[in-house]
Amino acid sequence: MLPKRVDTILGSIDQLRPMPSNVTRLLKELEDPTITAGQISDQIGLDQALAALIMQMSNSALLGYGRTCTSISDAVVRLGFKRIKSIVMASAASDSMKRSLRGYRLGAGQLWEHSLAVAVAAEWVAQAVHYPFPEEAYVTGLLHDMGKLMLDQYVLSDYTKIVEYMHRYRLSLWQVEEKLIGIDHAKVGGLMAEKWQFPESLLYGIRNHHDPSSARKNAELAAVVNMANAFASQTNEKLPDIHTKSIHPASLAILNLSSDKIAPLQNRVNQILNVNA
Ligand SMILES: [Fe+2]
Ligand SMILES: [Fe+2]
Repeated sequence: MLPKRVDTILGSIDQLRPMPSNVTRLLKELEDPTITAGQISDQIGLDQALAALIMQMSNSALLGYGRTCTSISDAVVRLGFKRIKSIVMASAASDSMKRSLRGYRLGAGQLWEHSLAVAVAAEWVAQAVHYPFPEEAYVTGLLHDMGKLMLDQYVLSDYTKIVEYMHRYRLSLWQVEEKLIGIDHAKVGGLMAEKWQFPESLLYGIRNHHDPSSARKNAELAAVVNMANAFASQTNEKLPDIHTKSIHPASLAILNLSSDKIAPLQNRVNQILNVNA
């Protein structure tokens, strides 16, 4: 029974639509040092869904931009190429992340809201611990839970058993997913990132966001997102209790942080998330 379910899940990851060609083209263009903001805006303007997402993000209170942004070129200038790149990558999953996930007990918009909060928190934690690529932490935060999209139906059908296992064996949701479904949402997310040919750092960051100690590569990024997920989840009272809200002990060791550094970091993240909510 178990291996069959995993095979079905792996099969559906394999069948995910590839990144649309305009998205891969845009990602390449964003790497081109000679490209102008105007050219990037024109490209974005050709894709209505992407344009809408960029406009929405540029006006997001969570990102802390005060005034209202009304045109794509305004948004491109305001957000900068690096953040535009993050949003373009996230666009592959953003629509699905806005829907409700009945298995995970998340209403419409809740996963997306959580993802945005983790992205902002991850960027901030990255800066605080001197991780050299805070923008990478942002996009990994944005996509860290996308594996939940593929596992939702299995969590839904096994929900009672999952909750029972969590209590009986004192396990986190992702550990029970691994036990009962055969794979957890973090690994599924890593496979989705691989399918979409995301940079390797993102792939490992997503894959190991609940267990940075098992990261073969990019453990720092996984640890940053692990902490950001805990911080953002603890401040969100609407997030159901089954969600993992704790920091993995390995995160502190990986980032060379003593435990007395957690409270000040958490307070700062709370301030940022609350101020901008
Ligand atoms: Fe997660
Ligand atoms: Fe999460």
